[in-house]
Formats: sequence, C-alpha cells, structure tokens
Amino acid sequence: VSSSKAEGTPRLAVLISGGGSNMVAIARACASGQVPAIVTLVASDVPEAGGLQRAQELGLTTAVVDRRSLQRDGRPDRAAFEATLEQQLLASSADFVILAGFMRVLSAEFVNRWMGRMLNIHPSLLPRHKGLDTHARALAAGDAEHGASVHFVSPELDGGPLVAQSAVPVLPDDTVASLSARVHAREHMLYPMVIQWLTSGRLLWNDGKPLLDGAPLETPVRLA
Ligand code: GRF
Repeated sequence: VSSSKAEGTPRLAVLISGGGSNMVAIARACASGQVPAIVTLVASDVPEAGGLQRAQELGLTTAVVDRRSLQRDGRPDRAAFEATLEQQLLASSADFVILAGFMRVLSAEFVNRWMGRMLNIHPSLLPRHKGLDTHARALAAGDAEHGASVHFVSPELDGGPLVAQSAVPVLPDDTVASLSARVHAREHMLYPMVIQWLTSGRLLWNDGKPLLDGAPLETPVRLA
C-alpha cells in the first residue's frame, strides 16, 4: 500500500477492534486509486485484534490503545483512553476517522470534536437493530431483508445521520453465519464507496447535516 501520494491527499485513521476486513477493503480501495485517500493509521483498542496483523501486512502504520491497561482506581479510565486515542489521531494527521468494527462507545465530547469527519458502518438497515447481535435479531424478527448502513457518527449510538445502505435478502435457511457473510460482502463495497464520496468532496458535512452532490441527504442512498 503506497503512502507516497501527493500532499493534500486526505488522510484516514481507521479504528478497529476485530478482524479488520472492512479496513482491508478500504486500504485496498485507497491503494488502487478508487478512493483518493491514504490510510495513515490503523488503531485498535484490543491488542489481539486480527486486523492489526493484516494492516501490517499491507504496510500500514498500526497502534494499540489498550483500554484495559488504562485504569484508574481499578476501573477502565475512559478519559485516559480517549486522550491517548486522540493523540494517536493527531499524530497521524488524520483528516477523517473511519470506525470499522470498533467496539468502544466514544464520549459525546470526543464525537463532537470529530463530528462530520467520522464515519461508522453498522451491520443492519438502520434505524432497525441498533446495537449488538444484529444478524441474530434480524433472523429472530423474521425480517425479509437485512443489510448494512454507513452513517456519520453522532453522540447517539448508531443514530448519526445516515449516508448509504445496502440491503440483502434474508433466505429461509439462513444462519447468523450465512447472513453475516452476505452482509459483510456488501459492506466491503459500501464503505469504500461512501469514503470515496467523502474524500473527493462529493459528500459534505454542512450545518449538522450531510450533503451529497450539493443536495441534502433526506434518505440514505441505497446501493443496488
Ligand atoms: C462489521 O460487520 C461492521 O458492520 C461492524 O463490525 C463488523 C466489523 O467487521 N461495525 P470487520 O472487522 O471489518 O471484518
């Protein structure tokens, strides 16, 4: 993955907690030129995150901000965690923060500092199934369709302004594994597409709302 692109190229910090398949899709899209940006940092709050090794294999700079090692009075110290994370983001000169399977809830203060410059991908058709275990919940609810959503991050968990979604059918024999694999495959197209809009200037944050190609995004774009 090249990091020697022209100055002025938007810089992405990708935050992960797990396998990092979205991070890999984003890094590849940057390397191929589909997304006019460079990944300057891949940071995890979990030292064991498999995505860290995948990032290193791609030649990307990685960092671990281990929440468990940042304790105060025997409890996780969120302020210290967020201050350390912020230092890493600033050191990487990130223009945008891309949450890609990052499993920590960030404080309103942190989110507000990055508002309009921080995206998340969530494995459901928001506003359905905010939170965890979305595939199991879609199956349990008997949903006919399921999918993934990309949104700007706001202090409301999984509640920030939606940008784009991709839907998949729920099939009669689906299990959590089969459904999540189908959604994941869509995520790997959806997220680079939205990041391409953001880094090319098509997607703007204006007065607390997303604008795509100059028009307010009243409803999220549906990826075919
Ligand atoms: C994805 O399903 C994403 O929607 C959710 O966490 C998962 C991360 O997967 N936020 P990966 O680590 O990118 O493979």
